[in-house]
Amino acid sequence: MEQYKSLVIVGSQWGDEGKGKITDYFAQKASMVVRFSGGDNAGHIIVSEGVKHKVTIVPSGILNPKVVNVIANGAVVNLPRLVSELEILKKAGIDTKNLFLSNRAHVVLPYHIAIDELQEESRGVNKIGTTKRGIGPTYQDKVDRLGIRVCDLFDKNFKTKLKEIVEFKNKLITKVYDGKPLDFETIYKELMDNFEIIKGQVVETSTLIETAIKSKQYVLFEGAQGALLDIDHGTYPFVTSSNTSANNASLGSGINHNLITTSLGVVKAYCTRVGTGGFPTELNNKIGEGIRERGHEYGSNTGRPRRVGWLDIVALKYAIRTTGLDKIFITLLDVLSGEPVVKICTNYLLNGEKIFTIPPLNGDYQKCEPEFIEMQGWKEDITKVKNFSDLPTNAQNYLNKIKELCGINIVGFSVGPDRLQTILMESEF
Ligand code: GDP
Ligand code: IMO
Ligand code: MG
Repeated sequence: MEQYKSLVIVGSQWGDEGKGKITDYFAQKASMVVRFSGGDNAGHIIVSEGVKHKVTIVPSGILNPKVVNVIANGAVVNLPRLVSELEILKKAGIDTKNLFLSNRAHVVLPYHIAIDELQEESRGVNKIGTTKRGIGPTYQDKVDRLGIRVCDLFDKNFKTKLKEIVEFKNKLITKVYDGKPLDFETIYKELMDNFEIIKGQVVETSTLIETAIKSKQYVLFEGAQGALLDIDHGTYPFVTSSNTSANNASLGSGINHNLITTSLGVVKAYCTRVGTGGFPTELNNKIGEGIRERGHEYGSNTGRPRRVGWLDIVALKYAIRTTGLDKIFITLLDVLSGEPVVKICTNYLLNGEKIFTIPPLNGDYQKCEPEFIEMQGWKEDITKVKNFSDLPTNAQNYLNKIKELCGINIVGFSVGPDRLQTILMESEF
């Protein structure tokens, strides 16, 4: 087989592993970054030259002027939000012309957001804790074959089509959820005004991506959320509505899976989760609070405090297996500095029995108790470390233990939010 150069970067936990930062880092040597799933439920903070940027739907390659950024068919796009995000980036002096949007991507509309909110309300104590960005209802419509795709907006009959859908959605909103109906003309105008701004950047992205890889360019595929939020393999029903898996990079961008050579999982040195759902290693104590404060663990999208817990190898190995990871990259290692002891969960106890995987039933997952190995922590500030050998021995031991337990290589680690605080341990990357 021909040797192509492409890399999928995905989250290996419950999101917010630092995918944005790591994608931006690898993008320095790449020609293209493709976002293949999710929507503006994602939120990535990227710090470059001391300046903090936030993206939700714009691919994390955008800070690299030579990179072509692609929002592919598997993603869902809220056009006003995309346009305003691009405006903010432009104001920060970033060139956003190099961004292309798939004509097959589904569009998030105001009724999706309204329904997301109403569905969450109606779930009561069983709420998922969604980001309320309308992502679930947009993917529901996609599967229901009721979705609006970007290509539809070019169609001369689009207004009539949208009007019928809005009328139908208003019935759902008012009659099922007892909500307020939405105004069609307002929805249509806002959508088309924003489409007008972006339509010159709408293309058939699958051919763009295929051509880039086949001409031996280095192409990155950027996942959103994390493996444990995957609709098929995540901790259902407390998941997002798309396949967050590395395996979805080919479907979500419309290319042959053989064109994707390597997949990299970004792994936070501990765990966080926003929203509800099982979290066996969760730390509801001072240690958890300390990590939350040091790691600024508040949602970059919704501002919610993130739940914090020890690193969970059961969950991580499950993610490696189901999402198809070749290698991992450890982030936020610096945040653990100062912990006298660091713990790693190696198995759960479910009804008194040791288990080494995530059980399918949420009720069982909620009952899982973690069993840990304990390791000595390190006190030193590691935020200026440049090599693995500069790390305190206990931090080295921690990384080595993760590698041993996971059975795959750690290609690098990160010791702070800035692009420069990134250490690569494998030269081939
Ligand atoms: P993403 O959604 O996976 O891209 O992650 P988020 O951006 O939502 O959350 C990761 C947070 O950790 C962001 O605020 C990053 O700036 C920050 N971050 C990333 N890597 C590191 C690191 O190695 N150390 C520290 N202290 N912060 C980091
Ligand atoms: P990034 O890409 C963390 C979570 C929500 C909720 C569940 C479903 O920044 O890692 P949704 O709005 O998708 O229907 O919510 O998924 N969630 C995330 N958690 N990081 C994210 O994205 C997330 N995107 C969705 O909190 O539990
Ligand atoms: Mg995030």
